Amino acid sequence: MTACIVGWSHGKFGKLDGETSESLIVKAASDAIAHAGIEPRDVDVIYVGNMNGGFVRQEFHSSLPLQAHPDLRFKPSTRVENACATGSAAIHMGLNTLAAGKARFVLVVGVEKMTELNSAQAGDVLIKASYVAEEANIEAGFAGIFGKITSAYFQRYGDKSDALAKIAVKAHKNGAKNPFAHFQKEFAYEFCRTPSDKNPFVAGPLKRTDCSPVTDGAAAVVLTDVGTALGMKQAIAFRAAEHVNDFLPMSKRDIIKFEGPQRAWQQALKSAHLDLLDLSFVESHDCFTSAELIEYEAMGLTAPGEGERAIHEGWVERDGKLPVNVSGGLKAKGHPVGATGVSMHVMSAMQLSGTAPEGMQLPKAKLGGVFNMGGAAVANYVSILEPLR
Ligand code: COA
Repeated sequence: MTACIVGWSHGKFGKLDGETSESLIVKAASDAIAHAGIEPRDVDVIYVGNMNGGFVRQEFHSSLPLQAHPDLRFKPSTRVENACATGSAAIHMGLNTLAAGKARFVLVVGVEKMTELNSAQAGDVLIKASYVAEEANIEAGFAGIFGKITSAYFQRYGDKSDALAKIAVKAHKNGAKNPFAHFQKEFAYEFCRTPSDKNPFVAGPLKRTDCSPVTDGAAAVVLTDVGTALGMKQAIAFRAAEHVNDFLPMSKRDIIKFEGPQRAWQQALKSAHLDLLDLSFVESHDCFTSAELIEYEAMGLTAPGEGERAIHEGWVERDGKLPVNVSGGLKAKGHPVGATGVSMHVMSAMQLSGTAPEGMQLPKAKLGGVFNMGGAAVANYVSILEPLR
């Protein structure tokens, strides 16, 4: 263990009319500093996770947290971007800064304001996280990339639409208990399973209920070293933090194997000296239901092609042997891309400190896994978290 999360904040995710990335950043930063019980002047270094790429006109975000308090003026602050794993990338920059001895307290804010654009325009921004030279003409934005991956998976292993619908139902059932979630209502299995006017096909076999929504939101954490964390009111330690990048072009990989995520999980479990089932829960990157299905295989929960067992047999339900996405995941909580990785860490810190919202809190949360992915299994981050004491 080298570092801890000692403060956090999480705003409500959704279509936040009237908010800007600036207002979201300022609130998230102030709330996380207050939650850590430190003074703004104690913050040494700041990272802002923001993908942007055209979601908002304001591209240069690094100095916006300074507006949370005059004592933050002149602090070094940098914007970090790694597609949909931007939030975890910013956290990793914070961990590296602590490991280098360059800071005592690091503030990390993840933010995205997506809904100034409509879904088609948002899709045009998100497709820039593909290998544009070969993949940018795939229709339906990033959903098209995962539509292709899902079709390839179905071709190899058979139609898994039943499992995808069940993953959506699970996400929305969990999201209904998360007051921070974009969608806070349950969806019936028949609705998710059956194409309809309200649930049309979006890309390949993926229907609307298989996709994470276009969402606004921010979340923040304060990081410090273990020695300092021992004296603080709450401390969630990183037992592992691993980062693996794979080739960008899908044509250079067997895309349904998710080898980057698999390697990141293997490295993290090895360095933490744990087996997957030692974990109390996992927050996994369900940008699409089929991503979660393949991630069951990549994390080692099932053999390749058998991911559906994890959902059909109830292993990943909140009372199953490895609850996955008890927060509602990206599917129900929403996926404001730059904020998502930070959000996953905050949801896990809440679980592990016993402070998750009622109904979402798991009874015995001792070890949590986070998997955050940028692009189609390209930038892969796994964290394993546990209470420091
Ligand atoms: N899941 C469930 N319901 C959704 C939804 C989703 N992902 N997205 C929108 N809805 C609901 C809306 O709440 C609205 O409901 P209402 O009629 O009861 O008010 C209705 O569907 C229509 O919303 P709208 O925004 O017009 O839908 P849309 O068809 O324009 O967009 C998607 C739907 C799936 C295309 C869009 O959410 C999308 O592009 N998602 C993927 C985002 C993405 O690629 N992220 C990066 C992943 S790596």
